[in-house]
Amino acid sequence: MHLPVDLRSDTVTRPSAAMREAMASAEVGDDVLRDDPTVQELERRVAAMVGKEAALYVTSGTMGNELALMTHTRRGNEVICGRPCHIQEHEVGAAAILSAVTLVPIDAPTGTMGLDRIHDAIREPDIHHPETGLICVECAHSSGAVQDIAYLESVKALAVEAGLPVHMDGARLFNASIASGVPVDRIAACGDSVMFCLSKGMGAPVGSMLCGTKEFIERARKGRKILGGGMRQAGILAAAGLFALEHNVARLDDDHRLAERLAQALRDVPGLHVIEDQRDINIVWFRLDGERDDEALVKQLQERNVLVFGPSHGQWRLVTHMDLDEEAVEYAVDQLRSVLA
Ligand SMILES: Cc1ncc(COP(=O)(O)O)c(C=O)c1O
Repeated sequence: MHLPVDLRSDTVTRPSAAMREAMASAEVGDDVLRDDPTVQELERRVAAMVGKEAALYVTSGTMGNELALMTHTRRGNEVICGRPCHIQEHEVGAAAILSAVTLVPIDAPTGTMGLDRIHDAIREPDIHHPETGLICVECAHSSGAVQDIAYLESVKALAVEAGLPVHMDGARLFNASIASGVPVDRIAACGDSVMFCLSKGMGAPVGSMLCGTKEFIERARKGRKILGGGMRQAGILAAAGLFALEHNVARLDDDHRLAERLAQALRDVPGLHVIEDQRDINIVWFRLDGERDDEALVKQLQERNVLVFGPSHGQWRLVTHMDLDEEAVEYAVDQLRSVLA
């Protein structure tokens, strides 16, 4: 077991020696000039995996999502999305800043928006109305829930009928596929564009992928340059992405199993309630009974070598990842039990 036990996020993993080796030996070129072979290999491989024509390597999930909005929409458009979702809650209002669009959030605590609510949110043509430009879905949702494939397919069908594109924030797309058993390309087919992160459960130090048609990706490439996201010898980073896709996808199931072990142990802690209806991937949310000083609790755990974030709207989140094992999870639960006692 490695201390501290860091349960804050699946972004905290450190690249393994083998991944660092792959990075060090990567063949590189200038990717803005389109001659970095490792970035090109990553983009080709990813497009094939998710069943899209093309893919673009970007610095972060936020950049991928915001580029999707910039590329799909025009100034003044409305973008329908769930509330909460990462685009609406955690991207610093970038949709308004970069794309000059208004978000139209529909309540969706675990990511599933009512189809009738989406339908009603789509604007009818009227001189007074803004135009709807895009529908966004998030799968897996950061609540930890994986959206039903039938639901995602219904959203896509509704969007096709309305003549609208769908963007999928699939930061944890591969977690969703492994947890649900639905092939990744079938989930990705529910978005005209899909973004996923290499730097979460798959353990790369940096990088996300935005995928879509060739034409869409060419326009997004230009948008990436506008955002200052054109990188030069980026193959050194893309090599970590290729390594992650080869070695760290199937093992996401280990993170899911570890999260279930964690949830099981937490269920026995008095006054603690695991939120069960969103327990699909490597994320465990819980509530605590009674009043307490949340900051003090985070600090007490930190002093005992357990790192967690404080609660959001009364809910605590713990995330498993490849740098944790069963011993670490048991240690963390023991510490939490003793701090709460
Ligand atoms: C659902 C979701 N989308 C997008 C992102 C953004 O990724 P990044 O932190 O790489 O910008 C995250 C990050 O946690 C996420 O959970």
